[in-house]
Amino acid sequence: MNTSRRTFLKTTAAAVLGFPSIVRAANLNSNLQVASVGCSGKGYSDLMEIGSHAKVKFTGFCDVDLSKFDKADAKFPGVPHFQDFREMFEKLGDQFDAVHVSTPDHMHAFIALDAMRRGKHLYCQKPLSHTVWEARQMRLQAAKSWVITQMGNQIHSAAEYRTAVKLVRDGAIGKIAAVHSWQKNAGNGYTKLAAPPAFGPVPESLNWDWWIGVAPMRDYAPDVYHPFKWRDWQDFGEGTLGDFGCHILDPVFTALELGAPLVISAQNEGLNAQTWPSAETISYIFPGTRLTAGATLPLTWYDGGRQPDLALAQLPEGKKLPAAGSLLIGEGGVLIIPHVGMPQLYPEEKFKDSTIEKVPGTSHYHPWVDAALAGTKTTDSFDYACPLTEVVNLGNIATRFPGVALEWDAAGLRFPNNLEAERLLTREYREGWKIEAI
Ligand SMILES: NC(=O)c1ccc[n+]([C@@H]2O[C@H](COP(=O)([O-])OP(=O)(O)OC[C@H]3O[C@@H](n4cnc5c(N)ncnc54)[C@H](O)[C@@H]3O)[C@@H](O)[C@H]2O)c1
Repeated sequence: MNTSRRTFLKTTAAAVLGFPSIVRAANLNSNLQVASVGCSGKGYSDLMEIGSHAKVKFTGFCDVDLSKFDKADAKFPGVPHFQDFREMFEKLGDQFDAVHVSTPDHMHAFIALDAMRRGKHLYCQKPLSHTVWEARQMRLQAAKSWVITQMGNQIHSAAEYRTAVKLVRDGAIGKIAAVHSWQKNAGNGYTKLAAPPAFGPVPESLNWDWWIGVAPMRDYAPDVYHPFKWRDWQDFGEGTLGDFGCHILDPVFTALELGAPLVISAQNEGLNAQTWPSAETISYIFPGTRLTAGATLPLTWYDGGRQPDLALAQLPEGKKLPAAGSLLIGEGGVLIIPHVGMPQLYPEEKFKDSTIEKVPGTSHYHPWVDAALAGTKTTDSFDYACPLTEVVNLGNIATRFPGVALEWDAAGLRFPNNLEAERLLTREYREGWKIEAI
């Protein structure tokens, strides 16, 4: 059965959810044909999770490095290989309903937008985009194409984060006056480069031109970009904030129903023109919501070993903050959401008789498959996940203007008080790799 027969337009569930009035669905009675882009690292674990759904059939595996298919092949033998996702999309035609993207961050938007333009459902790794403008385009395209989307911050569906969200919503610590979130890793902690990288020959298995994609071309250097270490580089990755922000800020966003910030400012050390800072503090001011104590909410992000003042947590003597997580200061107590662990309420004396009821976790992947087949909505679709990604991307602009308070006009996609920062809302695309506005 081809996709044109399999695909139908469904209105009911969508209308109830305030979703675009029409969404595209595959057919509940058939398989979901999935094409994967990026097959090793996180891509492989995504494949395993998506492929464990009884109705998923992989119809294409794409990786720019031909040495990266072995593990995926061992688990799902016989799936055709491609090195260029554009060729895969063209050749598969109707033989794919959905795409899974797990490449380095700088290529998410280019690949995801192409897939969505073709009407394909999308599971895309976090952070969804490399720039604020890209996140905005992804949100617009998802709505325009009526596709079912999910961001790859899988802890969103885990018991620990769901329990934390419920505690805040239930008013366990009252209205929230301030939030502090942190991750101890350094933004350039994987390469730890003290000098420019030593260039070397490109491995035969790798198409370096396609790996670079939208970014400015540079020479290949072994062990500093591919695989995994691209995170440290401003051209490709998003530093620690980009790596962990869409995880750690997610329960805070869901629980407090946050949107776009009003002002962002940053302090950092170790910043240079190539890699992200080795430590930073990013301060956001958000408009208040029905769950916050004031008309505005301060939210502060720390990384590179920085953490909030321990005294704020009201912990028992000798207890430390987790290595990563969030601290919510409420009118009636303090909530710590470890990354990843069960939430904790303080001061101990006040909550000694309270029991925290665990909300069961679910797969983050299977509900996306089910939603794509049924034409229903996911909890982490792009109308939620793109604004969260924008916040992360905005922090990475602020950190390049230390000490400057950037006023953010989310609707206008502008920093009215800083033209120079405004230029970093997007990037200059390499010839042949331009992303067109929606
Ligand atoms: N959700 C999580 O917990 C989690 C954990 C780790 C990574 N991630 C995310 O997953 C993504 C991948 O991270 P990683 O650590 O696996 O990176 P990686 O560099 O180890 O793996 C990326 C894979 O994609 C391939 N690739 C690169 N460019 C490609 C392109 N243009 N087309 C096709 N294939 C391409 C690479 O060859 C490699 O196989 C990132 O966005 C990262 O932020 C998420």
